[in-house]
Amino acid sequence: MVHQREIIMCLVLTVCSPVFGESWRASVTKNIDALVGSCVVLPCTFTHPGGGLSNSRLRGIWHRKDKWEEFFYHEDNTKILDSFKGRTKLMGRLGESNCTLEIIEVKDHDNGPFCFRVELVRKDNNQPTSEKFSFVEECAEIKMLHDPPKPKLGPLKTAIQGKPYTITCSIRHTCPSHPPKLTWTHGTVDDIIESHEDVYSGVWQTESVLSFIPEEKDDDSLLTCTATFNGNIRSNTDFRLNVKRTENYNHIIIPTVTAATTAVMFGLLCLFMTKKYK
Ligand SMILES: *[C@@H]1O[C@H](CO)[C@@H](O)[C@H](O)[C@H]1NC(C)=O
Repeated sequence: MVHQREIIMCLVLTVCSPVFGESWRASVTKNIDALVGSCVVLPCTFTHPGGGLSNSRLRGIWHRKDKWEEFFYHEDNTKILDSFKGRTKLMGRLGESNCTLEIIEVKDHDNGPFCFRVELVRKDNNQPTSEKFSFVEECAEIKMLHDPPKPKLGPLKTAIQGKPYTITCSIRHTCPSHPPKLTWTHGTVDDIIESHEDVYSGVWQTESVLSFIPEEKDDDSLLTCTATFNGNIRSNTDFRLNVKRTENYNHIIIPTVTAATTAVMFGLLCLFMTKKYK
């Protein structure tokens, strides 16, 4: 009897024993698009047992999924693959559990998969301890885009002469560290409001709202929005503006009034003459 109870107690303790610290876990965006010649930012966060170590006690590495010794990023630049040297940067602060990686001048062969590895280093000699982990189940694969996406314009409505007109240009991208710039063929800087938004895991959107008061001369003119991505890659979309004239009845009113006045005067004159010669 006593034996059985001890076994049960033991089980309960094992299952319910509080977990001190966190476990090895990483959250990486697994599929992301990148524009060849531009840049891309791979979002990444992680946890490690013990938790809350400072930046200097952690070493972050990005390596190939099947060849762990092929480094895309390492704090020691000489260890990085030649084809990636000078093109990768750890943007996130490891002490804040952030392992976000930036790749610039994206090349066709950069597809990865890119896996993050964290090593805990000793305080005294800066050497890695046995506590290290490669998150090979959470690697990022990049889909290469050879042509830049085109910006979107909307709403596409007819303008009215003299009335405020607003049109929005937007573009999605995956490089928040150097987002694309949006420019218009119409208006000045004061007519434009720009904003940036995180749409979903690694995908961002830059938006530019142009507001102006259309004049008669703007009718049938071409409004073009150009997106210039990092690496000076451009794409554009245009829209032919149709400006409706404000209704103006002066050309009808003035002659009508003139004619009516003349008729009344003539009538009065006739009346006067008739009376006089009676
Ligand atoms: C990680 O770092 C990047 C780059 O500094 C930052 O943009 C991002 O918001 C951070 N992510 C989190 C979850 O804090």
